[in-house]
Amino acid sequence: MTLEKHSLVETPEKIKLLWYLTLPDGPIPWEPHGRWNTGFKHLQRLASTIDDLGFYGALLATGLGGNEVLTVTSSLISSTQRLKFLAAIHPGLVGPAKLAQIASTIEQFSEGRLLFNAVNGNDRALPAFGVHYPHDERYRYSLEYWQAFQKIFKGETDGYEGEYIKLAPFPPELVQQSKSVAADSHKKTYYPQGLPLWGAGTSAAGVAHSIEVLDVYLSFADTPQRLGEKFRRVAAEAAKIGKRLKFGTRLQIIVRETEQEAWDYAQYLIDHTSVEYAIQSIKRQLPPGETFESYQSDNPQIQQNIDTIKSGKLPNAKDFEIYPNIWTGPALHGFNVLGPLAGTTLVGSAENVAARIREFQAQGTSAFILSGWPLIDEAYRVADLLFPLLDLDHGFDIPQLASQSRSTSHKFTSEISSST
Ligand SMILES: Cc1cc2nc3c(=O)[nH]c(=O)nc-3n(C[C@H](O)[C@H](O)[C@H](O)COP(=O)(O)O)c2cc1C
Repeated sequence: MTLEKHSLVETPEKIKLLWYLTLPDGPIPWEPHGRWNTGFKHLQRLASTIDDLGFYGALLATGLGGNEVLTVTSSLISSTQRLKFLAAIHPGLVGPAKLAQIASTIEQFSEGRLLFNAVNGNDRALPAFGVHYPHDERYRYSLEYWQAFQKIFKGETDGYEGEYIKLAPFPPELVQQSKSVAADSHKKTYYPQGLPLWGAGTSAAGVAHSIEVLDVYLSFADTPQRLGEKFRRVAAEAAKIGKRLKFGTRLQIIVRETEQEAWDYAQYLIDHTSVEYAIQSIKRQLPPGETFESYQSDNPQIQQNIDTIKSGKLPNAKDFEIYPNIWTGPALHGFNVLGPLAGTTLVGSAENVAARIREFQAQGTSAFILSGWPLIDEAYRVADLLFPLLDLDHGFDIPQLASQSRSTSHKFTSEISSST
């Protein structure tokens, strides 16, 4: 089969917009001077805001530090009504049967609002949590973990026998007991096929794992074409085993009424970011064996930016535009000077950002996990400026913030497509 046969261009999926639901927060949270003191009340306000605004869901990322995502999810169920919690999970930190019990409790209490982001993290952090498998083996372990998890989650009681995971069948009295508990509590099944698993994995082992266990394959953003190529490669692998995936990406966002305002704000972020943050981010992104001093890029734009940073200054905001409205400037998730990754940002007028999102959509992306800082303020901007311009599929009517359509406003229309 050719890649074209799996092109997702012919029938683009409708768009889902998700936001970000974790601390820290602030206008420039990657710098100590731009980070707020936040806590549970702030998370509650953030959760209820994005719920009210009509985002489809929110990502709760997980790492070595920070709050535990399922605890956060449970604590925010009652602050929200329709928001889906996309909670990132590293397999192996709790056993699959226990995780299935926790997931099923949250599924019931939230009335079907739990999703998992199945992540396998990195080699450096996981051993500290007790997961010692090397990279590729971690994905083989993870495959068994999620298969065992889904069996228990769906209520199957005949156990699981794998190389890494072994769950004994339920004893008969426990099977009876779990059936009567389900009947007594009028347990409703929201996901009879198993809990929806979103997730990532770019390496060969990561892709092999993803096509087996995931429903939605995620990747950090790139240009629409390059991301589309990656998704088509993964879709072709999935098709070989008869699987069809959906695709999503992660982007930061600066959306304003005009291009000028958006780029002025991007410049403001540059002006308040230290050269040191750029250097540290570059060091984290270097290929193995390279140093900040030795690294040379064959991309002239990137090399020019590295040279400017080496001279002790940051380049201008526009120097980090790698494609119209796609920016690798500073973000909480890294300052991707060496090329697009977790910090990649959409910058522009609402019309142009919407056009870019539609371009990603035409290349197969249907879920967009967005964040802008501060999270509450920028969530309002996205809902106000962007929601009305996109054909969203959130499973409910999207509330309209503006009392009047902006498309009639002179200021707004005069800026449309000024940079495309
Ligand atoms: C949208 C998205 C979100 C991710 N969130 C997390 C996370 O919360 N925690 C984590 O350890 N890794 C996270 N990752 C990284 C993946 O776990 C994985 O390390 C990465 O995709 C590299 O894949 P590889 O292991 O195949 O090289 C995320 C990746 C993507 C694309």
